[in-house]
Amino acid sequence: MTVEVRTVDLPDAADEVGERGDRFRRHHAFATRVSDARYAPGAFDLRPDERLAAWASSPSERHVRLEAVDGDRLLGAADLWLPLSESTDVLDVGTASDPELEAAQARDVHRALVAHVLALADAQGRTVVMGGSPGLASAPPGSALVAAATGFGAADPSDPEAAPLVEAGFALEQVYRVSLVDLDALPDLPERLAAARERSAGYRVLAWEGPTPPEHRSAIRGLHERMSTDAPVGDLALEPETWSDERLAAFEEQKARGGRTIRTVAAATADGELVGFSRLFAGDSDVARQHDTLVVREHRGHGLGMLLKLANLAELAAHHPHHRRVSTWNAEENRPMLATNEAVGFAPIAYEAVWQRRQREEQP
Ligand SMILES: CC(C)(COP(=O)(O)OP(=O)(O)OC[C@H]1O[C@@H](n2cnc3c(N)ncnc32)[C@H](O)[C@@H]1OP(=O)(O)O)[C@@H](O)C(=O)NCCC(=O)NCCS
Repeated sequence: MTVEVRTVDLPDAADEVGERGDRFRRHHAFATRVSDARYAPGAFDLRPDERLAAWASSPSERHVRLEAVDGDRLLGAADLWLPLSESTDVLDVGTASDPELEAAQARDVHRALVAHVLALADAQGRTVVMGGSPGLASAPPGSALVAAATGFGAADPSDPEAAPLVEAGFALEQVYRVSLVDLDALPDLPERLAAARERSAGYRVLAWEGPTPPEHRSAIRGLHERMSTDAPVGDLALEPETWSDERLAAFEEQKARGGRTIRTVAAATADGELVGFSRLFAGDSDVARQHDTLVVREHRGHGLGMLLKLANLAELAAHHPHHRRVSTWNAEENRPMLATNEAVGFAPIAYEAVWQRRQREEQP
C-alpha cells in the first residue's frame, strides 16, 4: 500500500456535476461510514449539502480537507481548521481512516496525514497543533493507557490514530464524552419542564428559531464570548473570542446553510437581561446536535442549565418531530454540564481524546 496525501478542492454545490462534485460525494460517503463506525449508526448523519456547509470556511476559520489515497482508493482524510480571529497560532485537525483497514495500515495512513499536517502547520506559521483520537472514560491504575492532563479521561497510545500523534510529540490534554438522548425515552418531558420552571421561578425562557432577533444580538454575542472563557478547555492554547455583530451573523448564516435550523432558548431575569442560553441545530437526520449551553457565573446553581436544556428539547419536539435523538459533546471534567445532561437522560456513546503539540523552542 502506498499513501499519497493531497488537498481536496471542494465544489460550490453538493450536486455539482464533474470531478470536484464526484470527489466531494465520495468524501461525504466516506465521512458517513467513518462516523457510523466510530460513534453509532446514524448518530452524526448529514445530508450532502449539510456536510458541504459544515466543511465551509468562514471569516473566523479556514477549513482545509485532505485525502490520503492509494491510486483510486480513498484510505483516509483529514479536516484542518485554522482559526483566523484569535488563536491564530493554532491548527486543529481531525484525521480519519477507512474503518475496513487493518490496524497497521490505518496507522500508516494516520502517520502520513499527521506528517503532512505538521509540514503544513510549519508553512503556515501555526506553532500549536491539536489532533484527535478515540478516547476512554478513564485509565485504570497500572494500565498502559495515557491519562489526560485534566485528570479526566484517557486514551490508548497504541491506537492507530493516537500512535502517530504520540510519535510526533503530542500530549494528551483533554477527553470529551459524546452522548445521545432519546426523546422517546422522555415521555414526562412536559412535567419535568414544568418542575424546572418552578425551580427557576424569577426567570423567563425566551425561544426562537433561526438568526438572533436584533434586540437580543448584543446579549447573545456576549454569551458566545463567555462560552469561549467559561467552558473548560484544559491546557489547550485557545484564546478568548470576541464576537462582533458580523461574526454572529456569519456564524448563524453558515450553520443554517444546507437547510439546517438553529433553535435557541435563553433565560431572562425579571428585568429582561439574558443570563443564559442553549442552542441546537435541527437538520434532516433523526439526530439533532446540541451546540453551546451557558449560564453566566452570577446566575449558576438555580437550575437554569437544566431549564434551558429541557426547554430546547421541548421546542425541538414541538417544531421538528422527526428528530428523535439529540447528540452532545462535553469535556469529561465538566461536572456541572455532565450532571445536568445525565439528569436529562443523555448517555455516553463514545469518548474523544484531544492531543496538543507545541512547536519546540529553537535551541540557541
Ligand atoms: C453547565 C452550566 C450551564 C450549568 O448551569 P447552572 O444553571 O448552574 O445549572 P444547574 O443549576 O441546573 O446545575 C447543574 C449542576 O451544576 C453544578 N452547580 C450547582 N451550583 C453551582 C454553582 N453555584 N456554580 C457552578 N456549578 C454549580 C451542580 O453540579 C449541578 O448539578 P446538581 O443539580 O446535580 O447539583 C454552567 O455551569 C455553565 O455555564 N458552565 C460554563 C459553560 C459550559 O461549560 N457549558 C457547557 C459546555 S459543553
